[in-house]
Amino acid sequence: MLILGIETSCDETGVALFDTDRGLLSHALFSQVDMHADYGGVVPELASRDHVRKLLPLCDQVLSDAGRARKDIEGIAYTAGPGLIGALMVGGSVAHALGFALGIPVLGVHHMEGHLLAPMLEDNPPAFPFVALLVSGGHTQLVRVDGIGEYQMLGESVDDAAGEAFDKTAKMLGLDYPGGPRVAALAEKGVPGRYRFPRPMTDRPGLDFSFSGLKTYTLNTVNAEKKSAEGLSHQVRADIALAFETAAVETLVIKCRRALEQTGCDRLVIAGGVSANKRLRAGLEKMAAKLRAQVFYARPEFCTDNGAMIAYAGAQRMKAGQRDGERIVAVPRWPM
Ligand code: KG4
Ligand code: ZN
Repeated sequence: MLILGIETSCDETGVALFDTDRGLLSHALFSQVDMHADYGGVVPELASRDHVRKLLPLCDQVLSDAGRARKDIEGIAYTAGPGLIGALMVGGSVAHALGFALGIPVLGVHHMEGHLLAPMLEDNPPAFPFVALLVSGGHTQLVRVDGIGEYQMLGESVDDAAGEAFDKTAKMLGLDYPGGPRVAALAEKGVPGRYRFPRPMTDRPGLDFSFSGLKTYTLNTVNAEKKSAEGLSHQVRADIALAFETAAVETLVIKCRRALEQTGCDRLVIAGGVSANKRLRAGLEKMAAKLRAQVFYARPEFCTDNGAMIAYAGAQRMKAGQRDGERIVAVPRWPM
């Protein structure tokens, strides 16, 4: 089955072609990051309008890259949520219109399920069951995964998501949106040991997270340094970035270790934008090696939003016969 995947939940227009026999054939992404950078975050109306402009040209691009035509598509998967309502509506409308015109099935899929399954697109994919850490701009969740659609929530953030904490820290340090990769790059120049930031909720049992206290601690440190003799120099900012990143990563690593121990699983999957973070990957690899567990993640371009993960997740569900009715599905808030 040849599936077209469409992702438009936020600020990336992602499209891909996945063949259930031959794997991923082609994929394309247009990032709106530069357009939103002037505003310090995503402007929903601008995002929707740009998806309208880019989506069909990208669909034609992935078809021509794979040497296929529109008539060859056998099913369409699109992100039905969670996300920005206008942006979701663009992907859902195009998916349903194309599906209606071509007379093929269409299915709305959960964005976080897309992230969760993205590591399946790599060589040597993880077998079920596994524990997954989903870390994106809107979610921080630990999930036990026994199969497609068989998800058991083990823990999640009670306030900010990890990616959100990275983005807010970036803003405090005067870095552009999206902040995660920029905080990580600045942290490379940091000297360890100048600060020690808290590892929230690691001192009590359980698998929930909280990042708002860490964010406040970072803000207080930034404000205190602004008033100091050195001021908020480049080195001070780099040292703060490193202290923040180290604390956030260590917190995630501690909870992942607990989740592996509690479930007895020896496979850990990390997915979502923050799973591109090198320090996080290294920390998890080191922890997992001690437990004789294995860590799986997607290539960096499939950690952040993309069409390939939606095509893959949709293909698995469509193979099992799932389809939308005639209505476009767009669900801004949607627990997995
Ligand atoms: O999964 P994603 O592309 O979009 C959502 O569904 O939210 O995740 C975006 C988030 C942003 O908060 C971004 O700052 C963060 O992932 N991110 C990173 C890195 N790359 C992206 N955070 C830390 N280190 C990175 N290298
Ligand atoms: Zn995402």
